[in-house]
This record gives sequence, C-alpha cells and structure tokens, in this order.
Amino acid sequence: MDPTPVRMDLGRLIERAEGDFAGEDAAQLRQDFTRFMMRYKFGMEEIVTKLSILRDEFTHLHENNPIENVSSRLKNPDSIIEKMARKGTDPTFVSIEKTITDIAGVRVTCSFVSDVYTLFDLLTGQSDVHIVDVRDYIATPKSNGYRSLHALIEVPVFLSDGQVPVLVEVQLRTIAMDFWASLEHKIHYKYQQDVPQSLLDGLRDAAETAGELDATMERLHTEVKSAGELPAELQAELRARNDVGPDDGFVERLRRLGT
Ligand code: GTP
Ligand code: MG
Repeated sequence: MDPTPVRMDLGRLIERAEGDFAGEDAAQLRQDFTRFMMRYKFGMEEIVTKLSILRDEFTHLHENNPIENVSSRLKNPDSIIEKMARKGTDPTFVSIEKTITDIAGVRVTCSFVSDVYTLFDLLTGQSDVHIVDVRDYIATPKSNGYRSLHALIEVPVFLSDGQVPVLVEVQLRTIAMDFWASLEHKIHYKYQQDVPQSLLDGLRDAAETAGELDATMERLHTEVKSAGELPAELQAELRARNDVGPDDGFVERLRRLGT
C-alpha cells in the first residue's frame, strides 16, 4: 500500500477523532490503520482466489465459464473518512468495521443471469464463507433501475497471531447490468445531485432494455445448450486454452505403468 495517502488521512482522522483515535499517538494510529486495512486486502484476495479457482475449474471440466470478469478494490482512506462522516461513525476501528461494510469490494460480471445465481450459490456454499446479508436487486431492482446481486460475506483470514473474520462486499451482475451501472455512475458523478429528469427517465428505460436483453440472451443460451454438445474441435480448443493436464504421450506412459 502506498504509505502517503494513509499518513495524510490519518492526520485528518486524528483531527476529527474523539474517543479511541484521539488519544493515540500518530505513528501508532498509522500502524494500526494499516493493519486494519491489510485484513480487508487479505479477505478480498481470498474471495478473488475462490472465484479464480471456480473459473478455471469450470473452463476445464465443464467447457463453459460463468465468469466474464472479476475486479476488486479496497476503499481508499479518503472515502472511508467521507463515509464515516456521512454515517456518523464513531472514530474507532470497531465502529468502522460495523458501519462501513464495503471496505473490501469484489465485483463479478457474468454473461447470464442464471450464472449470477450459480456463482452466488457456489461461493456462499463454501464451508468457510458465511453470508451476513444479501440484497437481491435483480429480483427487486432499485427505483432508478439498478440491478445486481449484492452479498455481504465473511471469510476467515489466517494471520500470524490467529484467525480473523473479514467482511467482503461481493457484487454479482451481468454484463448488461454492469454496462448500465457504469454509465449511471458516470452521469451521477458528472451532475452530482442535479441529474436532469430526462436523463433519469432515459436511464430507467435503458435499465428495462438491459433487463429484456438479459432475458433474451438467457433464452437463446438455454436453446443452444439443449441443442446438444459443441463440435469436437471447439471442445478441444476450449480445453487447450486452460490445459494444465498431461499430453497424450504422458497418459499412455501412465497407462503402461499399470500393466
Ligand atoms: P452505500 O451505497 O455504499 O452506502 O451502501 P448501501 O447500504 O446503500 O448498500 P447498497 O447495497 O445499496 O449499495 C452498495 C454499492 O452498490 C454501492 O456502493 C455501489 O457500488 C452499488 N450501487 C448501489 N446502488 C447503485 C446505483 O443505483 N447505481 C450504481 N451505479 N451503483 C449502485
Ligand atoms: Mg447505496
């Protein structure tokens, strides 16, 4: 982590602080804050690894892949302070942990809505993953049209002095939902609170169109799947792209070992 922004923000954290942070020495607080953030980084990496394993396994064994893209980000210290002010969070690590639940964020895009739910089940079904909260904005979109499946999950991280549970916010969505959300985000960023009504209406229409596109793509996908297996050459190509397995010669030698 780049130390400069942490130092700057801790200066401000101390200025604003009452209670725990105020009494602390700046160097100590800086170190504590870094350790606090590290845990989120590790938790986020655990989830990214889990998704990467699922993606590789799917490509290898099932010749399809429910994941288009995985991205992750740690909330920067400035945004944490801004959100603490907005939410009236006490300046203690315990309060930050409780109220700012998106310090570690992972976003997964899939081609199809069914893949979104498949991945959610596969990830949250793992024995070390604990679901804290689920918000299904696909089943119930927000009034502005926003759709995505949000899961707040807890994953254990093993540190030198023991195991700690870490909260990670996972957003799962289709490419169409992601396309919409990134444009909507840009518009809000540009206009701040004053987005013209015509744009808001346009966004709601676009969200509906994106929803229809998802439904059509899902239907076509189901039709293709039920039409039978992929041609042999395509199967071989897909397998080769992700192959960690032995070649034919090796398999033959392995077979002969058994005789
Ligand atoms: P914050 O919005 O982070 O304070 O949390 P919340 O308690 O409102 O949770 P929610 O599940 O509504 O949103 C969490 C995150 O989802 C946001 O930080 C965004 O990344 C994303 N999100 C939620 N609503 C919208 C939306 O209307 N548009 C876009 N572009 N993203 C959204
Ligand atoms: Mg919100």
